[in-house]
Amino acid sequence: MIVDRGKIGTMPAASEREDEAYLDFVEGMRNWNFLALDPVLQARAQRAAQDFEARHGRPPTTIEDAIETLHALPIAASRNRVIRSVQEMFWDRVIATYRKREPELLAALDRADRSGPGSVTWDPNFVYPDYFATVEFHIQPGNYHADPLAGYIYHYGTKVFFRGANDHDERQREFAFAVPVPRDGIVRRTLDLACSIGQVTTAMKERFPQAEVWGIDIAAPMVRYAHKRAIELGLDVHFAQCAIEDLRFPDNSFDIVTSMIIFHEVPLEVTKRALREIARVLRPGGVYAASDFMPASKLDLVGTYLRYIDSIDNGEPYAEEFISVDMTDLLREVGLRPMPGSEGWTRPWRWYSEKPS
Ligand SMILES: C[S@@+](CC[C@H](N)C(=O)[O-])C[C@H]1O[C@@H](n2cnc3c(N)ncnc32)[C@H](O)[C@@H]1O
Repeated sequence: MIVDRGKIGTMPAASEREDEAYLDFVEGMRNWNFLALDPVLQARAQRAAQDFEARHGRPPTTIEDAIETLHALPIAASRNRVIRSVQEMFWDRVIATYRKREPELLAALDRADRSGPGSVTWDPNFVYPDYFATVEFHIQPGNYHADPLAGYIYHYGTKVFFRGANDHDERQREFAFAVPVPRDGIVRRTLDLACSIGQVTTAMKERFPQAEVWGIDIAAPMVRYAHKRAIELGLDVHFAQCAIEDLRFPDNSFDIVTSMIIFHEVPLEVTKRALREIARVLRPGGVYAASDFMPASKLDLVGTYLRYIDSIDNGEPYAEEFISVDMTDLLREVGLRPMPGSEGWTRPWRWYSEKPS
């Protein structure tokens, strides 16, 4: 018999113990790749780079160079196969385990839609743009939007992806708690873009309990799950289905806007439109904090190669375009001024900027 097995962190546990054990194994395989295989690739890459230099009279620098240098190495083939299989295995099993309780999990979303604290708005007739609807990001079957359980599925998927190190939103909390406050200290309203299941959003509410906190995402299952999760955390947060390039909020209406790992998942043209929207909805003196993939100019040879593998094997068709541009230039183009902290290029990659008063 299937019973409610409680939670792992803030996420519903797998429906049966055998699913959880399987997913723990898959998480371990992912960990094993990073601890055992990637260091071998890194060591082997040094010799391969010397061979490349002997052939071409220059070191490998571009993505094409990285492919030529590393792609034929047996260790590269092994780690690529492990990572791809791990990704396929966890999605399949997460979907299967939650399917066993589908009516109950959907009923929980329906109940949350009508409950508070906070709110959620979404449109069953929403038309998703092609650049989004035609890709399965991270090879998640059904993407973020087509499976009504996608919020649950994505949450467990990220647990495996982060190898258990994000069960309590550690990454999103760290980001949210480091966002600079506007110079006048006023924080009445905040907006989190492409909020997914609302982990940065709820962290912003914890940091600024008096503020009106919003999270938007294009995918209905994401904002519905985000709202259910916020209710369970007892946090009064507002979620809405909305595209980053078409923010349906008035001019100058937010003190802080945040976005964590979205721009590598949209075409550059959409990023540029979204940045114009951010500059519009921020009030003068307001702060915009973004975190996303590391720029190509900062990647080493193996990092460059793995970005390529991620693009072709992990549903990231727009990432290479994003990492080839300078975000600081894009922010300046829409009138936002870079702030201290964003130029340190520390991990994870962040850009802080403000709207001039
Ligand atoms: C990698 S997830 C973001 C994760 C989340 N911000 C976090 O830090 O945990 C990308 C999210 O962007 C959303 N998304 C993709 N394109 C979008 C768009 N044009 N407007 C709004 N959301 C979008 C997806 O539905 C998905 O939930």
